Amino acid sequence: MRDTAVVHKSLAHDSAERHVAGSALYVDDLPEPPGLLHVHIGMSARAHARILRMDLSAVRAAPGVVCVLTAADIPGVNDVGPVFKGDPVFAEAEVIYVGQSLFAIAAETREAGRAAAALAVVEYEDLPAALTIAQARAAGLTLEPAQVMTLGDAKAALEAAPHRLQGKLAIGGQEHFYLESQAALALPGEAEEIRIVSSTQHPSELQHLVAHMLHVPSHSVVVEVRRMGGGFGGKETQGALFAAVAALAAVKTGRPAKSRPDRDADMIMTGKRHDFEISWDAGFDETGRLHGVAFDLASRCGCSNDLSRAINDRAMFHADNCYFLGAAEIVSHRFRTHTVSNTAFRGFGGPQGMVGIERVMDAIAAHLDLDPLAVRKANLYGPGRDTTPYHQMVTDNVAPQLIGELERRCDYAARRAAVAEFNATNRWLKKGIALTPVKFGISFTTSHLNQAGALVHVYADGSILLNHGGTEMGQGLFVKVAQVAADAFGVPLEAVKISATATDKVPNTSATAASSGSDLNGMAALAACETIRGRMVELLAGLWSCIPHDIHFADGRVWGPGHDVTFGEVARLCHLNRISLSSTGYYATPKIHYDRATHTGRPFYYFAYGAACSEVVIDTLTGENRVLRVDILHDVGRSLNPAIDHGQIEGGFIQGMGWLTTEELVFDDKGNLRTHAPSTYKIPCASDRPPIFNLDLWDGENTEATIHRSKAVGEPPLMLAISVFSALTQAVAAAADHKVFPDLDAPATPEHILLAVEDVRRRAAAT
Ligand code: MTE
Ligand code: MOS
Repeated sequence: MRDTAVVHKSLAHDSAERHVAGSALYVDDLPEPPGLLHVHIGMSARAHARILRMDLSAVRAAPGVVCVLTAADIPGVNDVGPVFKGDPVFAEAEVIYVGQSLFAIAAETREAGRAAAALAVVEYEDLPAALTIAQARAAGLTLEPAQVMTLGDAKAALEAAPHRLQGKLAIGGQEHFYLESQAALALPGEAEEIRIVSSTQHPSELQHLVAHMLHVPSHSVVVEVRRMGGGFGGKETQGALFAAVAALAAVKTGRPAKSRPDRDADMIMTGKRHDFEISWDAGFDETGRLHGVAFDLASRCGCSNDLSRAINDRAMFHADNCYFLGAAEIVSHRFRTHTVSNTAFRGFGGPQGMVGIERVMDAIAAHLDLDPLAVRKANLYGPGRDTTPYHQMVTDNVAPQLIGELERRCDYAARRAAVAEFNATNRWLKKGIALTPVKFGISFTTSHLNQAGALVHVYADGSILLNHGGTEMGQGLFVKVAQVAADAFGVPLEAVKISATATDKVPNTSATAASSGSDLNGMAALAACETIRGRMVELLAGLWSCIPHDIHFADGRVWGPGHDVTFGEVARLCHLNRISLSSTGYYATPKIHYDRATHTGRPFYYFAYGAACSEVVIDTLTGENRVLRVDILHDVGRSLNPAIDHGQIEGGFIQGMGWLTTEELVFDDKGNLRTHAPSTYKIPCASDRPPIFNLDLWDGENTEATIHRSKAVGEPPLMLAISVFSALTQAVAAAADHKVFPDLDAPATPEHILLAVEDVRRRAAAT
């Protein structure tokens, strides 16, 4: 019998009070051990060059410097590439991006290390650098052959369609801007042992990479993560360099060592969301329904593979969003450039793919002079129209009902009329409104990653220690899994202590990523709890001479016919009767499979859905803009914790809004990132939250047997912000009375909006 006193409840984040009070400990807050060294990384100043000479003698002689490390000091493999090699800890003969690590200084203070780095003499011989997608395309630099996904015969469908349109757009990248930078503290132990406290989403991978670098078995390295001050995908792989240099310094000196780049260095040295260039070709009928579409997706991957293959695959998987494409050909080019290696960022390529198809919807609507929402609705997956371009069937589709419900709740039709009225009567200010849906596939598309482990101890006093492979980065994973464990034992949440993620407690874990943290770790923890509870029940049934079915756990008590005891008493009874109170738990997602050679299969266990309606206003004289109102309806299945899910949806939306409006990465023609601080890189702040922000959870449960029928929530809401981009596109179109369709690229900064306004006016005047 399940008790739902703890799950499905809006309980506060376990660290909420500590976050606010400043007593939640991050890597750089831990008391510094005696003898601590500070590691500073010396960076490449060139995008692509041969290293002719590197003279570090002045660096070594500088005050406070204890040792200087280069590739020659690495006992094992000089590479921390996550899936494929290609990410050296220290560059050897050649540098391939500005900011690449050349050497590391272990110094008595951070200041001494930084000052010493400036004394390095490095002579380069420049080599041709490809910095942009266009340059890489021209030079033929790719990470792998173009990938192709097909549904039916797109070419024939395009040719036969009553209407045909083409277009293209560019989509900028995004800096993660986690509040806590990358950070690692390495503590040498005896013999080869080393313990690393790191800010990483992927402790197991760091463990293995550091072990290979140090040339020791993985069992000698322990990686521990209590929490991150945000990760957003930026700490899925890219914490490895910082952990590696700290570990190497600790091993070389026998002293503890910490690596914590300052904000500018972090922004220069770590990869970002992939920027994309998308061109499309769509064939459709009078109702706006697609007969076929062809996408060409090109992305800037940076200097190495990192996770780019899977990220670009996910862009292809989301080039349909909620829509049946008829016939489709999706071609994906992964360009290698001499820039920092781009990496995971909330949505993992999905958002870029989705922006593409949403642009197609807007363009079709403009062409046919239809309401864009009507075109979106005409194209939704539905009966007989349920095959994705990767041949997985959409069987859990709630988009049509969810969109209809949001449309009603936010009063879309009346407000669209009001926006038209406003635009007719205002010369300089123009408004736009857009309602866009989201369908996001849940599971790592590399099927074997969909597994998780947990370790649960019940102590003889009835208190519970919970550990699992997932990491906490603010998203509320820990409280959710603790709710699952508390519920399994029928105890209050306070009875469950959440402990730091550590590779010596649960081994060989996957990254906390793909939004699947609670799906995977919740199930693994439940399995562990059920094993222990099963042993308890068996003992009690014997002692109480009843059947297991008659024993219940709730409210911190356990009862059966004629018996009613505390959970603590049961734990003590188990101990006295020599019953183990500890168990591991394991979970592997069922039903999924994928053949990457043909790009077909069932990569996703299920889909998460949502929709948002955004209303914006632009100033056509300056390009300045505001989001006036947002209404969101989002599907999290049977929410494990509605308060946490609200936070994820709101935060994801705002982060997506920043990506598509104000956040702009600028590299100069030498490959230097010019926007490496908050002074030049604009993330949304509290005052950018739309003044009207209505958010509701869709009432429904997961059709698949996920943990308590919940759905993943971490990434999907980011893509709700495409409604802002679409609304801005509408507002720009209104500047020329919707006579022509705007060429608005992302991010829609005031500058881009102003240029687009001038462009539509010029083009409208010419027609
Ligand atoms: N929320 C906060 N507060 N901080 C984060 O770093 N990362 C996002 C999302 N929500 C993130 C966040 C990303 S990229 C992912 S994949 C998921 O959380 C990971 O956690 P989950 O699998 O437990 O949802
Ligand atoms: Mo999230 S981009 O999968 O870490």
